[in-house]
Amino acid sequence: MIYLDNAATSWPKPPAVLAAMRDFAENWAANPDRSCHRMGIESGQRIAQARALLSDLLRAPDASRIVFALNGTDALNIALKGFLNDGDHVVTTSYEHNSVGRPLAGLERAGRISVTRIAPQDDLTLSPDAIRRACTDRTRLVAVTAASNVFGAMNDLPGLALAAHDAGAAILVDAAQAVGFMDIDVAAAALDMVAFPCHKGLYGPMGAGALYVRPGLDLRPLREGGTGTRSESETHPEEMPYRLEAGTPNAHGLAGLAAGLAFLRETGLERVRERERALALAFSERLAGVPGVTIFTGRNQDAQAGIVTLRIHDMASQDVAAAIDSRYGIAVRGGLHCAPGAHRFLGTFPDGAVRVSFGYFNSENDAETAARAISEISRAAL
Ligand SMILES: Cc1ncc(COP(=O)(O)O)c(C=O)c1O
Repeated sequence: MIYLDNAATSWPKPPAVLAAMRDFAENWAANPDRSCHRMGIESGQRIAQARALLSDLLRAPDASRIVFALNGTDALNIALKGFLNDGDHVVTTSYEHNSVGRPLAGLERAGRISVTRIAPQDDLTLSPDAIRRACTDRTRLVAVTAASNVFGAMNDLPGLALAAHDAGAAILVDAAQAVGFMDIDVAAAALDMVAFPCHKGLYGPMGAGALYVRPGLDLRPLREGGTGTRSESETHPEEMPYRLEAGTPNAHGLAGLAAGLAFLRETGLERVRERERALALAFSERLAGVPGVTIFTGRNQDAQAGIVTLRIHDMASQDVAAAIDSRYGIAVRGGLHCAPGAHRFLGTFPDGAVRVSFGYFNSENDAETAARAISEISRAAL
């Protein structure tokens, strides 16, 4: 199988991730930090290591500000529902993933918040000035994606943070498609909250996500219960990260994540970016001029994730994805990619498009084979 669905989750994982999870399961899989026997301590140390590596990657001022969650969606819910109060106004984009869009729409429909949604510019990036114009006296949060999961264009995070802060609002960034690819320095960019899955560009397994919360910002916990700390207290601990983490964590997954983060550190973000961009570019160039193929990506190659979204004539995107799988053994994703607004903007709603997303482990041959498959399907449909 040629796997080109890395924007959904990365595959394969580096061998060190699988080895770390196996070692953890075989030797250390006790409940972390709850028990003071050696297995419990070792288990807790794996999680502490993942937290420290993640904190270094984001250049967070303090590792305790990194909270582990179930996935990207969970991290976003912890942020949105822990931060927003009734009556708040939120500025967001019209092309967010449903993980941001749906919680906001739910609160909006319940009459608890109001929301302004901004479309991208023609180059498919978000304008800080558009954020400024949309903010009002009541805007408390700007919630935006770092990079679209449909067209891959990366946004100027420091510029967007400045626009939010000038309006007196905090900024929450959905970094699902950017973390492990884009250099995100939470302190330099003055980001208040950054949420992301750990199973895409960080090479952890599914079932892991994380949220960075800047020092001084206290979120209401969504869940309360056991933390293994302050057991004598009737109420949930206030200190981070336990304030926002309750119950036994996905320690197997976080042990794998620590190995994924170590792999990323050794490899370097720049190398990952160069490889994925080069593959996406080679793929798009091979398809340029193929009759019936329309490609949708950002205009600036230096601000583009390894995502190429396309349509073939008026063929249903899911049919194309199924044909690429069954005839060529290539995994890509059709449909709306949980981001209907992005497809509305591109004019590809309601059928969606075919998303081809490259990962660090793909080869030039993968890009070439996929381009040939698309071109053959397109020519056959003429
Ligand atoms: C931009 C974006 N936000 C949020 C998510 C949600 O992440 P998860 O599937 O881990 O909940 C995704 C995943 O596809 C995404 O691409």
